[in-house]
Amino acid sequence: MKIIGISGSPVAGGNNDKLIEKMLDIAEARGFGTEKVLISASRIAPCTACGVCGKGEKCPIEDDMQHVYHKLVEADGIIVSSPVYFGTMTAQLKALFDRSVLLRRQGFKLSNKVGAAIAIGGSRNGGQEKTIQSIHEWMHIHGMIVVGDGGHFGGILRKPAAEDEEGMKTAVDTINKLCDVLQMMKLP
Ligand SMILES: Cc1cc2nc3c(=O)[nH]c(=O)nc-3n(C[C@H](O)[C@H](O)[C@H](O)COP(=O)(O)O)c2cc1C
Repeated sequence: MKIIGISGSPVAGGNNDKLIEKMLDIAEARGFGTEKVLISASRIAPCTACGVCGKGEKCPIEDDMQHVYHKLVEADGIIVSSPVYFGTMTAQLKALFDRSVLLRRQGFKLSNKVGAAIAIGGSRNGGQEKTIQSIHEWMHIHGMIVVGDGGHFGGILRKPAAEDEEGMKTAVDTINKLCDVLQMMKLP
């Protein structure tokens, strides 16, 4: 089974990129295959609502989203980490989410994949829960199965994330919950 990690930060090697690497290391140690999408290393333009994907055709925007479609479809689990920008996810991550409408219009291709979310803010209470909720909304609208950290909503951290011990525990609990649920789904 495969888990894809998406970092929604434009900062290469920043808190979210590093956290997604850590989440995927944990998943690999548990025997999962992994794949990642770093927004910081990708070029993904916003959706222009041209409607072409609703006719079953390829998205006409030629950028890195063409590879992301394949990675999303191949995954069994999806973990997304976003910086909090003005109380919600980054514009770059929202562009990826909006472009994923093709997968919904062409047969709900993300349906029943298991999803989980993490948010990192500069402040302790900077909008992490709301950011996670917005990521969950994307997952629900795709018909995904959404999990939290086992007690609350997902990974909630303050920058610098590596020093936020309490927050790091919520992220580790979140990836473990995602792995647990995927393993349970494999049972007869
Ligand atoms: C435009 C902008 C808006 C931000 N808004 C918030 C905010 O509303 N709440 C908050 O806690 N942090 C806010 N921050 C801080 C970022 O969340 C923080 O720098 C980020 O999580 C660091 O992750 P990175 O190193 O992966 O980019 C903002 C940063 C920027 C650049």
